[in-house]
Amino acid sequence: MKKIILLGYMGCGKSTIAKELSKKLEIPFVDLDEFIEKKVKMTIKTIFAEKGEIHFRKLEHECFVELLHFTEPIIIGLGGGTPCYANNHELLKGDDVISVYLKASIDTLVGRLSLNKSNRPLIANKNDEEMKEFIATHLFERSYYYNQAQHTVTVDQKTIEDTIKDILVLLA
Ligand code: S3P
Repeated sequence: MKKIILLGYMGCGKSTIAKELSKKLEIPFVDLDEFIEKKVKMTIKTIFAEKGEIHFRKLEHECFVELLHFTEPIIIGLGGGTPCYANNHELLKGDDVISVYLKASIDTLVGRLSLNKSNRPLIANKNDEEMKEFIATHLFERSYYYNQAQHTVTVDQKTIEDTIKDILVLLA
């Protein structure tokens, strides 16, 4: 069984969908952000605040590579920025992985993130209007990397169940 990698912008539902998929397939789910936090015993918020984003990106890459070396099947939920740094986007194409980009529109992302931004340093201090502008540009810049995934599943107006079904089709 290959490793399953879920990627996409903050708020696209990576963790929620990965948890459900993990139950369905009976394969453990590892959230990359949580893996980093456990490893360095600091929250993502604190790493950004005290060590800076460059340090975080280095840790993120190292931890991603470490997870790819796990021998057992796992589902990996990346951080929103993971594919966009170091050679991480190339790692999405390996023969031993199935990478799935969970694609969400700007409106879907703004709607979800406005309710859940305090632990996300890149948007924590933005109001809805600033966030919409920021996400529009950022998503455009990041799309090049997200599109390196082997598969894309759109999540707009879909239930978690529908998205899982789409992913299961890809895995069949
Ligand atoms: C980030 C997304 C976050 C987390 C960090 C940076 C990004 O993960 O890795 O705050 O650059 O988009 P989620 O996508 O799980 O929020």
